[in-house]
Amino acid sequence: MSATGETKAITPPDIRLRKGQAPLVCLTAYTTPIAKLLDRHCDIVLVGDSVGMVLHGLSSTLGVTLDMMIMHGKAVRRGLERPLLVVDLPFGSYEEGPEQAFHNAARLMAEAGCAAVKLEGGEHMAAIIRFLTARGVPVMAHVGLTPQAVNTFGGYRVQGRGDDAERLRRDAAAVTEAGAFSVVLEKVPEPLARRLTAEIAIPTIGIGASPACDGQILVVDDVLGMFTDFRPKFVKRYAELGSAAEAAIVAYAADVRERRFPAAEHVYATASKAKDVA
Ligand code: KIV
Repeated sequence: MSATGETKAITPPDIRLRKGQAPLVCLTAYTTPIAKLLDRHCDIVLVGDSVGMVLHGLSSTLGVTLDMMIMHGKAVRRGLERPLLVVDLPFGSYEEGPEQAFHNAARLMAEAGCAAVKLEGGEHMAAIIRFLTARGVPVMAHVGLTPQAVNTFGGYRVQGRGDDAERLRRDAAAVTEAGAFSVVLEKVPEPLARRLTAEIAIPTIGIGASPACDGQILVVDDVLGMFTDFRPKFVKRYAELGSAAEAAIVAYAADVRERRFPAAEHVYATASKAKDVA
């Protein structure tokens, strides 16, 4: 809260200053009700392109479009006051070059109302990150396992093992030098995550990258037990809402079939009553 009683929204520079401080709490959100639940508890809320797999039933993030990100970004914006809202640039919306990246990042910021964008890639994306950050677009980078490159990797594999660690060190250094305010490290072994976190000046946000990172992020539907198609080792489920929801639907279906629902209290009388307004 500010002196005027207004909630102060967290900004990219605030996140940058959290390097080495209390761990950053980050989750994804794709809808207004979930954003409202996260508002008082998260530092960063990400509208990840994981929305394609989690809510739209796609088999990877490759089919996610800019319009989908804008629509979900707007929905999340309506539910958030305090956390920094970051929206993913989807596959194909930034890789051609700086101008394409700026055009689409500006659409996300103007239409969805996010204060930053996230894009995948290390060294080879540095020029694009530099171009965006110099023009008022704060960038969260994403290195290690970058799901938009799943076909190049040949699966959702741990990155940075053995000699491959040097590639990730170059990636993390390049996105830092290019001006990213933070970087997601995905599926990186603990010693490497610890080393990268010590070597770069911006906060590392881990997903499958150990507690050594400056913060943690998970997909909210994984945390709630709502997305159960697969479960990576790095996911911890804090609730089983998927099974609770199924149990509720089973009970509803049985009530309808047995004519137990609707019951008297759910039925409107002929003469209007005060309690009938809803
Ligand atoms: O798309 C996504 O949700 C992400 C995170 C989980 C980091 O990129």
